[in-house]
Amino acid sequence: MRGKDIFSVKQSNSIQPILINGQDRPESVLRIKGKATLSGYVPISGAKNSTLAIMAATLLCSGTSRVRNVPAIVDVQKMIDILRAVGVKITSDHNALDIDAKDLSESHVPYELVNQMRASFFVIGPLLARLGVARVPLPGGCAIGTRPVDLHVKGLQALGADVIIDQGIVQAYARQSRLQGAKIYLDYPSVGATETLMMAATLAVGETVIENCAQEPEVIDLANFCISMGAKIYGAGTKTIIIEGVDQLHSCEFGIIPDRIEAATFMVAAAITRSTISISPVIPDHLTAAIAKLEEIGAKVILESDRCIRVEGQPRYHHTHIETLPYPGFPTDMQAQFMALLTLSEGNSTVKETVFENRLQHVAELCRMGANIMLQGNIAVVTGVSSLCGAPVMATDLRASAALVLAGLAAEGETQMQGLHHLDRGYDQLEAKLRNLGATLYRQPLGSE
Ligand code: UD1
Repeated sequence: MRGKDIFSVKQSNSIQPILINGQDRPESVLRIKGKATLSGYVPISGAKNSTLAIMAATLLCSGTSRVRNVPAIVDVQKMIDILRAVGVKITSDHNALDIDAKDLSESHVPYELVNQMRASFFVIGPLLARLGVARVPLPGGCAIGTRPVDLHVKGLQALGADVIIDQGIVQAYARQSRLQGAKIYLDYPSVGATETLMMAATLAVGETVIENCAQEPEVIDLANFCISMGAKIYGAGTKTIIIEGVDQLHSCEFGIIPDRIEAATFMVAAAITRSTISISPVIPDHLTAAIAKLEEIGAKVILESDRCIRVEGQPRYHHTHIETLPYPGFPTDMQAQFMALLTLSEGNSTVKETVFENRLQHVAELCRMGANIMLQGNIAVVTGVSSLCGAPVMATDLRASAALVLAGLAAEGETQMQGLHHLDRGYDQLEAKLRNLGATLYRQPLGSE
């Protein structure tokens, strides 16, 4: 085991954020009993994608940031390792992190820490803004697509950095002692590029205007965190963000928003198992696309309060058409879970993936469970079947792993899922939360089942 450990996936039903390392466990298989009926209430953790960006943003401040409502997931552990590698001190207290970047000294992030998580690249903006230099390895390819960083690089160049890519390392140097405000147009509303450039511009000289920004709630959360540190940012959540650079930022305390993707995953869990569950805390406005699609196919979604949603599953669902798009469009991070649900909905549905070029690998695994899905390029044509059957399956990426768990809960018989490191990257105690709702699922070391 290495370092101070922060995460554990517990086999018990208690949902306490426990801080130990999730990375070094032996390979396991997740056994999921089918035909589950769920009931009760499920608590939603802090948003993974907000947390990772906000952790990167703590590098902008020479004091200590306290970040609350941090999910206990492996990606957060990886970001902790990256921040420590550049000289930051981090302590944890339940699900809060105290991040002290006063002694930020190192501009180079080691490759071993970057290669498994694309979000680690987001530190390039804050490192460059604070130190005037940043050397971060390219995040490389990943299971869901090539995921280039050209938009990040072009934006940093506009802000006054010289950028060279040498032996797989992106090296950025501020031409003057500080970055300079600029007008930037993003060819595509990339979440990561919007976040990188917004962070970098907070400490630049003068005004930066970023056009065609991502409007995701996590971009707003990051902006709010930076504003809590004293940054001047206007328009986050719209297509144009304006940042007036300041000389320095100060310590702050900040709570992460609830994870809309985790919440929507549990909404699909209720629907696919024909169960009723309440999900809280949520920000219903962040779930508009998922709610609309659930209602369109016939599930009942009830706002119990402005922080709580109840989903009532129904015996039958209709088909629908889904196309993933930047926010407020249907989230690519929910595509796989909805596809699992549509395999059990009547008629022909289509699911078109437009955000990532290779994010349909779960199709083959769902078909192993008896789904009827034809792939035509980036479009999956899903013909509903009356039931799925449990099978051995392999998780191919984070959201695919959630989709297979959902399919396994609804299927006849038992599903055994491998590739659990994908699940651990982004879901905070998914299994314990499902067990609390009445599901039967547990891990076993691979080969002992
Ligand atoms: C973030 C989320 C991820 C989500 C995705 C889209 C985090 C940590 N991750 O990822 O969960 O699925 O948004 O909502 O927040 N692109 C380029 N050049 C660039 C940057 C992006 O071509 O410089 C392309 C990507 O290859 C992809 C598309 O733009 O095809 C969207 O990527 P982007 O919005 O940047 O996603 P991430 O920030 O990586």
